[in-house]
Amino acid sequence: MPSTSFRYSKTMVIIHWLTALLVVGAWLTAEGGREVAQDPPLLHFTLGLAVLALIVPRLILRLAGAAPEANAGRGWLATAGKAGHGLLYLLLIGLPITGWYAASRMGVPVSFLGIELPALTAAVQGRPGLIADLHENAGTFILILAGLHALMAIWHQFVLRDGTLQRMSLR
Ligand code: HEM
Ligand code: HEM
Repeated sequence: MPSTSFRYSKTMVIIHWLTALLVVGAWLTAEGGREVAQDPPLLHFTLGLAVLALIVPRLILRLAGAAPEANAGRGWLATAGKAGHGLLYLLLIGLPITGWYAASRMGVPVSFLGIELPALTAAVQGRPGLIADLHENAGTFILILAGLHALMAIWHQFVLRDGTLQRMSLR
């Protein structure tokens, strides 16, 4: 059984699983095209912005040393693991911001927990453009990447038997 110094801190663990739920929730509540302007998916906005809000303490904690050394050690697999986590972090930041931008382009107001947020750009008529397309595709891509990430975690746990899931659990 790995010792506590090889685990993520409790707060990191809670944020990890909460974020995973929020991402799946944001994906399930997403809408595209005309419907968004007519009947904005407020739950989608809220769940997605919560992902962005949680990234702030998560990265601060990570920088402060709340993440243990990688399990895989050295070699290309460890590098791929780091790159995968890096890409997940990039998407966790980029997705909410591009979504917020897309909503602003559509002229749809965005609020979070009752606080109205400023528009990130001026509204346009017609299609919301490239950033909105990027958001839609990246929104599905993160789910595929997270699925792959989960499979890797399961492989570590049950084939390599290196206690990876314990690292991301509360006890
Ligand atoms: C949308 C869903 C998910 C996202 C966005 C996500 C994201 C991440 C990120 C960014 C890290 C790196 C944390 C860090 O080092 O700071 C991580 C670690 C981890 N994730 Fe996920 N994750 C998701 C779902 C899952 C699922 C479903 C599982 C398990 C089946 C899982 C298991 C793990 C484990 C075990 C670690 C720790 C890996 C290690 O020991 O270094 N994750 N996750
Ligand atoms: C982790 C967070 C997020 C994920 C996984 C996600 C995912 C998605 C997906 C998959 C779509 C495409 C839906 C479809 O075409 O049927 C979409 C559309 C959209 N999302 Fe998000 N989203 C997230 C965060 C946000 C946030 C925070 C906002 C706004 C504050 C937002 C605003 C929008 C808008 C306006 C569209 C419509 C874009 C268009 O039709 O061109 N999203 N989102």
